[in-house]
Amino acid sequence: MNQFLESTGVEYPIIGGPMYPCSNPELVAAQSEAGVLGVVQPLSLTYVHGYDFLEGLRYIQSLTQNPIGFNALIEKSSRKYHERMSTWIDIALDQGVKFFITSLGKPDWVVKRVHGYGGQVYHDVTERKWAQIGVDCGVDGLICVNNRAGGHCGGLSPQELVEQCLDFDKPLVCAGGVATAEALKDMLDLGYQACQLGTRFIATDECKVSDSYKKAIINADESDIALTEKMTGVPVSIIKPEMKSERDLKAQGVLGWMLQSRRFKHLARLYLSLRSIMGLKKAISDNAAESEYWQAGKSVDGIHSVVSVKQVVNELVSQLQTPSK
Ligand SMILES: Cc1cc2nc3c(=O)[nH]c(=O)nc-3n(C[C@H](O)[C@H](O)[C@H](O)COP(=O)(O)O)c2cc1C
Repeated sequence: MNQFLESTGVEYPIIGGPMYPCSNPELVAAQSEAGVLGVVQPLSLTYVHGYDFLEGLRYIQSLTQNPIGFNALIEKSSRKYHERMSTWIDIALDQGVKFFITSLGKPDWVVKRVHGYGGQVYHDVTERKWAQIGVDCGVDGLICVNNRAGGHCGGLSPQELVEQCLDFDKPLVCAGGVATAEALKDMLDLGYQACQLGTRFIATDECKVSDSYKKAIINADESDIALTEKMTGVPVSIIKPEMKSERDLKAQGVLGWMLQSRRFKHLARLYLSLRSIMGLKKAISDNAAESEYWQAGKSVDGIHSVVSVKQVVNELVSQLQTPSK
């Protein structure tokens, strides 16, 4: 029995990973409509794509009757941010959303609220230490973010993560490095119950990023992927721009010093994150020929064309013996 499929009611063991700024409502809806779990990234929905949160959620739900998820980024940055995220969670619950992915922070308060509505919370983890915190807070599953993932990536391989987390006896989801039917099957054989994909879904008809971004993904291979701390202060996977050296990808000067300091690193991360939240919005603009950084993971290796979400999903599940529940 696949607990992930049973409990979510989703057809295939795939999550359309939340992506700032790439999760536009049509992409999320197309993922759910294709039988995978599309996940709303609320900052992307509101700040990048310009929807009032409730209106955006209703729009997605008008495009698909299938389940969708919600990405609760619960880091403690400011009271105002926390209040806004908390309100969005309540609205999502009221609208019938039952699947929540928490990133960063301690998810106990989200778990309590979501369980009150009969929903489930999966927590993003990059190593056992964070998984333990999530499990202690009562989460229902773990999203194991590995060292091949796009966005904020982890430091461990998919194999290492499954070994570290299997004995929690929670459904494990592999996040990172999957863009092909072979990779999906390999991860399920390894013990994961589902895979969360980001990069593969950027190169789709429904994703509203610029054509330059999609082309950069298609043209890149694994060796083009590098890490930079310049976006948020912690490693983010990007396609290394040709003109940049490894040194260019590191924060320099005062910011570099602040990131090394126990006292100031949170301030530096907050500053960098706010700056990149604004900068990344450019990725959806048609005339954005170049962005400083295109976020993508090592799964670029298996991505060679821009096709519809439905085609991506059909291809991904083609090697599963019993692709649906
Ligand atoms: C451009 C981009 C933005 C992302 N933004 C978020 C985010 O806002 N929240 C989150 O939990 N994960 C985010 N992720 C991670 C994805 O949800 C997913 O876990 C990851 O992309 C899986 O690795 P893959 O890109 O190799 O498929 C992002 C990934 C990418 C590529």
